[in-house]
Amino acid sequence: MVFKKETDNHVTWSNTYSVGIKVIDNQHKGLLDLVNDLFNHATGNEIEERAYFTEVIQHVVQYVKEHFSTEEKIMIAAQFPGYAEHKKAHDAFVLEVIKSAKEFEAGKRLVLAKLAHFLKDWILAHIGVMDTQYAEYFRKIATRKADGTLSVTKADIKQ
Ligand SMILES: [Fe+2]
Ligand SMILES: [Fe+2]
Repeated sequence: MVFKKETDNHVTWSNTYSVGIKVIDNQHKGLLDLVNDLFNHATGNEIEERAYFTEVIQHVVQYVKEHFSTEEKIMIAAQFPGYAEHKKAHDAFVLEVIKSAKEFEAGKRLVLAKLAHFLKDWILAHIGVMDTQYAEYFRKIATRKADGTLSVTKADIKQ
């Protein structure tokens, strides 16, 4: 049986993931970097994996929370109608990540590759579906500026 090297699971940023907002795209790239870093450390050696996990998990949770709060602020400012549903998905994901962190801390066998796969699948699916929904909404309400770029200003948002 041939085992797949975890580095084969690396995810590469593609422009198809772009939501058209630079700060968000950069954060999404950062999230994918974190996932790739998890795959890099998925050696199968439990002691090594646990040491790495302990070092990195708070940072991952913090980064995810910061990213979600950036998106939520923008969605609220632009009066995105799907905000409540989107926020629910963010909150559920944070709870899920914290739950697995606590399980590992409590001594449950840590399988870093499993966690990395879970994060990768969730993040890509979330960008592809929910983040794309607000991206489309922003494009709809945006105004084309003189230099040809699209941007949303206060004037574009109906009060
Ligand atoms: Fe996102
Ligand atoms: Fe999101």
